[in-house]
Amino acid sequence: VVDVRKFYAQSGQFTFDPGFTSTASCESQITFIDGEEGILLHRGYPIGQLAGKATFPEVCYLILNGELPSKSDLGTFNEEIKQHTLLHTQLDRFFDGFRRDSHPMAMLTGAVGAMASFYPGAMDSEDPEERRLASIRLIAKMPTLCARILKYTMGQKFVDPRNELSYAENFLSMCFSVTAEDYNVDPKIARAMDRFFILHADHEQNASTSTVRLAGSSGAHPFAAVAAGVACLWGPSHGGANEACLNMLHEIGSVDRIPEFIARAKDKNDSFRLMGFGHRVYKNYDPRATVMRESAHEVLDLLGLKDQPILKVAMELERIALEDEYFVDKKLYPNVDFYSGIILDAIGFPKQMFTVLFALARTVGWIAQLNEMLDDPTQRIGRPRQIYTGAAMRDYVPMDQR
Ligand code: ACO
Repeated sequence: VVDVRKFYAQSGQFTFDPGFTSTASCESQITFIDGEEGILLHRGYPIGQLAGKATFPEVCYLILNGELPSKSDLGTFNEEIKQHTLLHTQLDRFFDGFRRDSHPMAMLTGAVGAMASFYPGAMDSEDPEERRLASIRLIAKMPTLCARILKYTMGQKFVDPRNELSYAENFLSMCFSVTAEDYNVDPKIARAMDRFFILHADHEQNASTSTVRLAGSSGAHPFAAVAAGVACLWGPSHGGANEACLNMLHEIGSVDRIPEFIARAKDKNDSFRLMGFGHRVYKNYDPRATVMRESAHEVLDLLGLKDQPILKVAMELERIALEDEYFVDKKLYPNVDFYSGIILDAIGFPKQMFTVLFALARTVGWIAQLNEMLDDPTQRIGRPRQIYTGAAMRDYVPMDQR
């Protein structure tokens, strides 16, 4: 009988790293994070500069191609995206199968995967034009699909994309118009939306991006690999944190209840955590949270909501936590999700849509990382090992002897 416990001792060096805290799964030229210093760069450019000066399509171009676009490059890129914003009409029937009260992330996971059926050519990862088209199609169709999910849950008629609008304006128009042109997009709200997209565009090997790379490493269809990323993003430890954070801020409700929640977050017998706090990589203020906090103030000011209790609760919670020994010692700072829910709520999105908006923005990162992996000549199918801790080898016991 083989002793399975001796197996690992005899099989050479083996790394056991649950949660991949110190294992790099790939080389990448897209995003750099220095978690100790709170630095995030896309292709070398600091996130604060991109969020302050660039537009989301510009950042998409940068993330996909490695360099900022010239004016004419950006014009061509925007035009091409606009040519691909429509969804196949057969998706209508697909949507009819969903319950109206389905979680939007359940619909998004299914619908993105289903879209693979319309573009069989994208399965050919050796064809650069098919790969390029798959990237453009995903970036172009995500806003249409996400707006459609919102309309479906509200029982409203779907509103077509308007190609004369910018990427963010068009998305807001599809979400909030009732007829084709009855919603006037405020440029400042569109800018806040655009900035939200920029801040979520990529974040190196987070759980959902690693999922996309792993799914794609088998040669899966890019839409199917992205659907796997959407599924992973759904959880409250990842993309679902913005929804969970807003729920938490509402539950706290007023500044005087904050100490009670801080005490719960510190209590090891209570599973409660401060949502929007802490990060696997950042042991300093998440630089995206800095921009998001500014944006939250701007949007609430613009909409006349700056006296909302929720913003006060968030700011005071941040202040108290940042002075608390527990959070200081464990280096737990606000992450990107801490203020994002406040912005999305003020713009008018239901909470269940928050993670969908994150997925929309992260699509460019997923597809750029997938392309980078497929272009890497050292690429092999991702296949983690394990440490087996089960029963030793033993003989089958017939049913009448058990
Ligand atoms: N509130 C209270 N305590 C916390 C929190 C928190 N938000 N986050 C971490 N801790 C504590 C843990 O209890 C643990 O304490 P211990 O060492 O005494 O056991 C310690 O800090 C380390 O936490 P881990 O869970 O081991 O850290 P990990 O890197 O695995 O998790 C994560 C990171 C999932 C983000 C975690 O901080 C968390 O759950 N935060 C709340 C959810 C959230 O905001 N997620 C969004 C992440 S960003 C994004 O996806 C866009």
